[in-house]
Amino acid sequence: MSRNTEFIPFAKPSFSEEEEAAVLRVLRSGWITTGSVTADFENRITGISGAAHALAVNSATSGLHLALEASGVSEGDLVITSPYTFTATAEVIRYCGAHPLFVDIEDDGYNISPREIARAIKKHGNGRIAAVMPVHIGGEVCRREEILSLAESAGAAVIEDGAHLQPAPLLTDSRSILVYSFYATKCLTTGEGGMVVTNNDEAASRMRTMRFHGIDREAWDRYKVKGSGSWNYDIVAPGFKYNLPDILGALGIVQLDKACGMLEKRRSIAEAYDNAFASCGQLKTPPASADSSRHLYILQIIPDRLTIGRDELVSLITESGIGLSVHYRPLHMMSYYSSKYNLKPQDYPEALKKFETSFSLPIYPDLTDDEISRIINTVLDTCRKHRRD
Ligand SMILES: Cc1ncc(COP(=O)(O)O)c(C=O)c1O
Repeated sequence: MSRNTEFIPFAKPSFSEEEEAAVLRVLRSGWITTGSVTADFENRITGISGAAHALAVNSATSGLHLALEASGVSEGDLVITSPYTFTATAEVIRYCGAHPLFVDIEDDGYNISPREIARAIKKHGNGRIAAVMPVHIGGEVCRREEILSLAESAGAAVIEDGAHLQPAPLLTDSRSILVYSFYATKCLTTGEGGMVVTNNDEAASRMRTMRFHGIDREAWDRYKVKGSGSWNYDIVAPGFKYNLPDILGALGIVQLDKACGMLEKRRSIAEAYDNAFASCGQLKTPPASADSSRHLYILQIIPDRLTIGRDELVSLITESGIGLSVHYRPLHMMSYYSSKYNLKPQDYPEALKKFETSFSLPIYPDLTDDEISRIINTVLDTCRKHRRD
């Protein structure tokens, strides 16, 4: 491929010499696992989020698991969540021996529908639902206040899957636990990693213990001071190995410093896409609110205006050198969940409709203006060629 037709990947981390220098400092310090650098990363997240507690973990999946465990979710419980998400959201429910109770998404977006949550609570009765797990898809904040009060009235905990969010002042009370992801493709990345934030002191204390083998808090604190006295600890529960090492914490600190600039860049790309596709008769642009992290840019095709389906459109655009993705094939259409819970595609009509019609464009700070133009022109040309008149 010549230079101007090089393949544009769907996602790409935005790193510079600053990240390299930060990692090198940790490598040369003699202390590479969890220690003062990760503690500094956590402190910065508490500063940004305004939450009382921030706990660094080695993935959002680990963080979500810790949050469910600390909320008392256990064998046989029901946890309401969306089918329109990555499998991590639901698999952690199964880790606890509990069952996901999927409810459909909103008709005008990709987030879980509060109306459907209310219906599920009514159907299964108060007290049967241990937790509600909304997901902020693509960085679009869900209808949080409504969900918090529905859960409160049902006596259920709220664990927010914020894997697509960028750390922001979101938590205003102690009713929820929110988990960020720093996976390779996310708004900020440490390669693998996550952060749990909450104002709930009791849950934070349990998660702190369970994050590192169930070692009692005091020993953990001493361990943080470069291992001194770390032989003298007690195990208070069979915990997990979910801590984030300093090598990755160092990446997180630099990424956080750049977070505002990276968000601005994603916003400007989204604006360019919105402007370009608003008048394209074959496509529908995504809903976006002012506080969206703009992690994903999900376009929907209008099926009766095209002679080809979503799959063929995605193949043609990909063959033209643009990396695309589909968010998501819903979980109730994955073989494990469909067979375990006897679910049919039509059980969640909005999730099914969105799945069949949507695809995601690249949106990351390192995209150049030329690349953005190429993406726009390729999508528009492909739609034009296959439009139904
Ligand atoms: C919606 C959602 N939840 C959870 C996760 C899990 O994040 P992690 O890879 O940090 O465990 C992802 C990752 O892709 C995700 O997209």
